[in-house]
Amino acid sequence: MEKQLVTLLQQLEEFGTQNDLEKEQKEERMRNITRDTGKLLAFFIKLTKARNIIEIGTSNGYSTLWLAAAAEQNGGRVKTLEVSEYKAQLAKDNFSKSGLSDRILLYEMDAGHFLEKEKTESIDFIFLDSERYHYVSWWKDILRILKPGGLIVIDNVISHASEFELFKNLVNNTKDIEVVTIPQDSGLMLITK
Ligand SMILES: C[S@@+](CC[C@H](N)C(=O)[O-])C[C@H]1O[C@@H](n2cnc3c(N)ncnc32)[C@H](O)[C@@H]1O
Repeated sequence: MEKQLVTLLQQLEEFGTQNDLEKEQKEERMRNITRDTGKLLAFFIKLTKARNIIEIGTSNGYSTLWLAAAAEQNGGRVKTLEVSEYKAQLAKDNFSKSGLSDRILLYEMDAGHFLEKEKTESIDFIFLDSERYHYVSWWKDILRILKPGGLIVIDNVISHASEFELFKNLVNNTKDIEVVTIPQDSGLMLITK
Protein backbone atom coordinates (compact mmCIF):
# COMPACT_ATOMS: atom_id res chain seq x y z
CA MET A 1 0.00 0.00 0.00
CA GLU A 2 1.29 3.49 -0.92
CA LYS A 3 2.64 5.57 1.98
CA GLN A 4 0.24 8.39 1.08
CA LEU A 5 -2.72 6.02 1.54
CA VAL A 6 -1.40 4.53 4.80
CA THR A 7 -1.06 8.05 6.23
CA LEU A 8 -4.54 9.06 5.04
CA LEU A 9 -6.12 5.95 6.57
CA GLN A 10 -4.41 6.68 9.90
CA GLN A 11 -5.62 10.29 9.81
CA LEU A 12 -9.17 9.17 9.05
CA GLU A 13 -9.09 6.66 11.93
CA GLU A 14 -8.05 9.42 14.34
CA PHE A 15 -10.61 11.86 12.90
CA GLY A 16 -13.43 9.29 12.97
CA THR A 17 -12.76 8.25 16.58
CA GLN A 18 -12.53 11.83 17.86
CA ASN A 19 -15.45 13.11 15.78
CA ASP A 20 -17.77 10.28 16.83
CA LEU A 21 -16.93 10.86 20.50
CA GLU A 22 -17.84 14.54 20.17
CA LYS A 23 -20.90 14.38 17.91
CA GLU A 24 -24.24 13.06 19.10
CA GLN A 25 -26.24 13.32 15.88
CA LYS A 26 -26.02 10.22 13.69
CA GLU A 27 -25.86 12.50 10.62
CA GLU A 28 -22.62 14.02 11.89
CA ARG A 29 -20.93 10.81 13.01
CA MET A 30 -18.68 8.90 10.59
CA ARG A 31 -19.43 5.41 11.99
CA ASN A 32 -16.46 3.94 10.13
CA ILE A 33 -15.57 0.27 10.10
CA THR A 34 -12.44 -0.70 12.02
CA ARG A 35 -9.02 -1.12 10.45
CA ASP A 36 -9.30 -4.91 10.97
CA THR A 37 -12.62 -5.02 9.15
CA GLY A 38 -11.12 -2.93 6.35
CA LYS A 39 -8.25 -5.40 6.06
CA LEU A 40 -10.66 -8.31 5.96
CA LEU A 41 -12.81 -6.70 3.23
CA ALA A 42 -9.66 -6.09 1.18
CA PHE A 43 -8.60 -9.70 1.78
CA PHE A 44 -11.97 -11.00 0.49
CA ILE A 45 -11.71 -8.81 -2.61
CA LYS A 46 -8.21 -10.03 -3.40
CA LEU A 47 -9.13 -13.66 -2.67
CA THR A 48 -12.22 -13.58 -4.92
CA LYS A 49 -10.49 -11.42 -7.57
CA ALA A 50 -13.50 -9.09 -7.46
CA ARG A 51 -13.45 -6.23 -9.95
CA ASN A 52 -17.01 -4.88 -9.97
CA ILE A 53 -17.62 -3.68 -6.43
CA ILE A 54 -20.51 -1.77 -4.89
CA GLU A 55 -20.55 -0.18 -1.45
CA ILE A 56 -23.76 1.09 0.11
CA GLY A 57 -22.97 3.65 2.83
CA THR A 58 -19.82 5.63 2.01
CA SER A 59 -19.76 8.05 4.96
CA ASN A 60 -16.47 9.96 4.57
CA GLY A 61 -14.96 7.18 2.47
CA TYR A 62 -12.84 5.30 5.02
CA SER A 63 -14.16 1.84 4.10
CA THR A 64 -14.23 2.79 0.40
CA LEU A 65 -10.47 3.30 0.49
CA TRP A 66 -9.91 -0.26 1.72
CA LEU A 67 -12.20 -1.58 -1.02
CA ALA A 68 -10.59 0.58 -3.71
CA ALA A 69 -7.02 -0.34 -2.70
CA ALA A 70 -7.90 -4.01 -3.13
CA ALA A 71 -9.88 -3.35 -6.32
CA GLU A 72 -6.85 -1.62 -7.82
CA GLN A 73 -4.80 -4.79 -7.43
CA ASN A 74 -7.48 -6.70 -9.37
CA GLY A 75 -7.86 -4.00 -12.04
CA GLY A 76 -11.35 -3.24 -10.71
CA ARG A 77 -13.28 -0.31 -9.29
CA VAL A 78 -15.80 0.62 -6.63
CA LYS A 79 -19.16 2.31 -7.02
CA THR A 80 -20.06 3.80 -3.64
CA LEU A 81 -23.37 5.33 -2.56
CA GLU A 82 -23.98 8.05 -0.02
CA VAL A 83 -27.18 10.00 0.52
CA SER A 84 -25.75 12.71 2.81
CA GLU A 85 -24.37 15.73 0.95
CA TYR A 86 -22.12 16.57 3.91
CA LYS A 87 -20.53 13.12 4.05
CA ALA A 88 -20.28 12.80 0.27
CA GLN A 89 -18.25 16.03 0.22
CA LEU A 90 -15.89 14.70 2.91
CA ALA A 91 -15.53 11.48 0.91
CA LYS A 92 -14.73 13.37 -2.30
CA ASP A 93 -11.98 15.30 -0.51
CA ASN A 94 -10.55 12.08 0.92
CA PHE A 95 -10.67 10.26 -2.42
CA SER A 96 -8.77 13.07 -4.09
CA LYS A 97 -5.99 12.78 -1.46
CA SER A 98 -5.84 8.98 -1.70
CA GLY A 99 -4.31 8.36 -5.12
CA LEU A 100 -7.26 6.02 -5.79
CA SER A 101 -9.84 8.41 -7.25
CA ASP A 102 -9.68 6.73 -10.66
CA ARG A 103 -10.86 3.52 -8.94
CA ILE A 104 -13.88 5.11 -7.21
CA LEU A 105 -17.23 6.35 -8.53
CA LEU A 106 -19.20 8.18 -5.86
CA TYR A 107 -22.98 8.36 -6.32
CA GLU A 108 -24.51 10.98 -4.09
CA MET A 109 -28.01 9.52 -3.96
CA ASP A 110 -30.37 7.16 -2.21
CA ALA A 111 -29.11 3.61 -2.62
CA GLY A 112 -32.63 2.22 -3.06
CA HIS A 113 -33.15 4.40 -6.09
CA PHE A 114 -29.75 3.38 -7.50
CA LEU A 115 -30.45 -0.34 -6.96
CA GLU A 116 -33.84 -0.19 -8.69
CA LYS A 117 -32.28 1.35 -11.79
CA GLU A 118 -29.14 -0.83 -11.88
CA LYS A 119 -29.50 -3.19 -14.84
CA THR A 120 -26.31 -5.21 -14.43
CA GLU A 121 -26.34 -8.65 -12.86
CA SER A 122 -22.56 -8.91 -12.77
CA ILE A 123 -21.47 -7.38 -9.47
CA ASP A 124 -18.69 -9.40 -7.83
CA PHE A 125 -18.74 -7.89 -4.36
CA ILE A 126 -21.26 -5.80 -2.39
CA PHE A 127 -20.50 -4.18 0.97
CA LEU A 128 -23.68 -3.17 2.77
CA ASP A 129 -23.11 -0.67 5.59
CA SER A 130 -26.07 1.69 5.67
CA GLU A 131 -29.25 2.14 7.73
CA ARG A 132 -30.50 -1.33 8.58
CA TYR A 133 -34.22 -0.54 8.16
CA HIS A 134 -33.71 -0.26 4.39
CA TYR A 135 -32.24 -3.73 3.92
CA VAL A 136 -35.49 -5.68 3.62
CA SER A 137 -36.71 -3.49 0.76
CA TRP A 138 -33.29 -3.48 -0.94
CA TRP A 139 -32.72 -7.25 -0.71
CA LYS A 140 -34.41 -8.26 -3.98
CA ASP A 141 -32.29 -5.84 -6.04
CA ILE A 142 -29.08 -6.57 -4.13
CA LEU A 143 -29.45 -10.26 -4.87
CA ARG A 144 -30.41 -9.60 -8.50
CA ILE A 145 -27.32 -7.49 -9.31
CA LEU A 146 -24.90 -9.96 -7.66
CA LYS A 147 -23.36 -12.37 -10.13
CA PRO A 148 -23.49 -16.10 -9.33
CA GLY A 149 -20.50 -16.80 -7.10
CA GLY A 150 -20.35 -13.16 -5.97
CA LEU A 151 -20.09 -12.11 -2.33
CA ILE A 152 -22.21 -9.79 -0.17
CA VAL A 153 -20.76 -8.60 3.14
CA ILE A 154 -23.05 -6.91 5.67
CA ASP A 155 -21.74 -5.11 8.76
CA ASN A 156 -23.21 -4.81 12.28
CA VAL A 157 -25.21 -8.04 12.30
CA ILE A 158 -24.08 -8.84 15.86
CA SER A 159 -23.77 -5.34 17.35
CA HIS A 160 -27.28 -4.41 16.08
CA ALA A 161 -28.80 -7.90 16.03
CA SER A 162 -32.30 -6.75 16.98
CA GLU A 163 -32.45 -4.50 13.90
CA PHE A 164 -31.68 -7.49 11.68
CA GLU A 165 -34.52 -9.79 12.72
CA LEU A 166 -36.78 -9.21 9.69
CA PHE A 167 -33.85 -9.13 7.31
CA LYS A 168 -32.40 -12.38 8.68
CA ASN A 169 -35.79 -14.04 8.22
CA LEU A 170 -35.87 -12.88 4.63
CA VAL A 171 -32.33 -14.12 3.96
CA ASN A 172 -33.00 -17.45 5.65
CA ASN A 173 -36.02 -17.93 3.38
CA THR A 174 -34.09 -17.12 0.20
CA LYS A 175 -33.24 -20.06 -2.04
CA ASP A 176 -29.88 -20.78 -3.66
CA ILE A 177 -27.68 -18.74 -1.34
CA GLU A 178 -25.13 -19.65 1.33
CA VAL A 179 -24.92 -17.54 4.49
CA VAL A 180 -22.43 -17.38 7.35
CA THR A 181 -21.98 -14.86 10.16
CA ILE A 182 -18.53 -14.23 11.60
CA PRO A 183 -17.72 -12.43 14.88
CA GLN A 184 -15.43 -9.87 13.24
CA ASP A 185 -15.80 -6.61 15.21
CA SER A 186 -19.52 -5.67 14.93
CA GLY A 187 -20.30 -8.97 13.19
CA LEU A 188 -20.24 -9.60 9.47
CA MET A 189 -22.80 -11.59 7.50
CA LEU A 190 -21.33 -13.16 4.36
CA ILE A 191 -23.69 -14.23 1.60
CA THR A 192 -22.92 -15.89 -1.71
CA LYS A 193 -25.30 -17.10 -4.41
C1 LIG B 1 -22.31 3.28 8.97
S1 LIG B 1 -22.17 4.61 7.87
C2 LIG B 1 -21.05 4.03 6.65
C3 LIG B 1 -19.64 3.92 7.14
C4 LIG B 1 -18.64 3.61 6.05
N1 LIG B 1 -19.00 2.39 5.34
C5 LIG B 1 -17.27 3.43 6.64
O1 LIG B 1 -17.04 2.39 7.27
O2 LIG B 1 -16.43 4.32 6.47
C6 LIG B 1 -23.70 4.54 7.01
C7 LIG B 1 -23.86 5.57 5.92
O3 LIG B 1 -24.99 5.24 5.11
C8 LIG B 1 -25.54 6.44 4.63
N2 LIG B 1 -26.92 6.20 4.19
C9 LIG B 1 -28.03 6.09 4.95
N3 LIG B 1 -29.12 5.85 4.21
C10 LIG B 1 -28.68 5.79 2.91
C11 LIG B 1 -29.33 5.59 1.68
N4 LIG B 1 -30.66 5.40 1.60
N5 LIG B 1 -28.58 5.60 0.56
C12 LIG B 1 -27.23 5.81 0.61
N6 LIG B 1 -26.56 6.02 1.77
C13 LIG B 1 -27.28 6.02 2.90
C14 LIG B 1 -25.45 7.37 5.84
O4 LIG B 1 -25.55 8.73 5.47
C15 LIG B 1 -24.10 6.99 6.42
O5 LIG B 1 -23.07 7.84 5.98
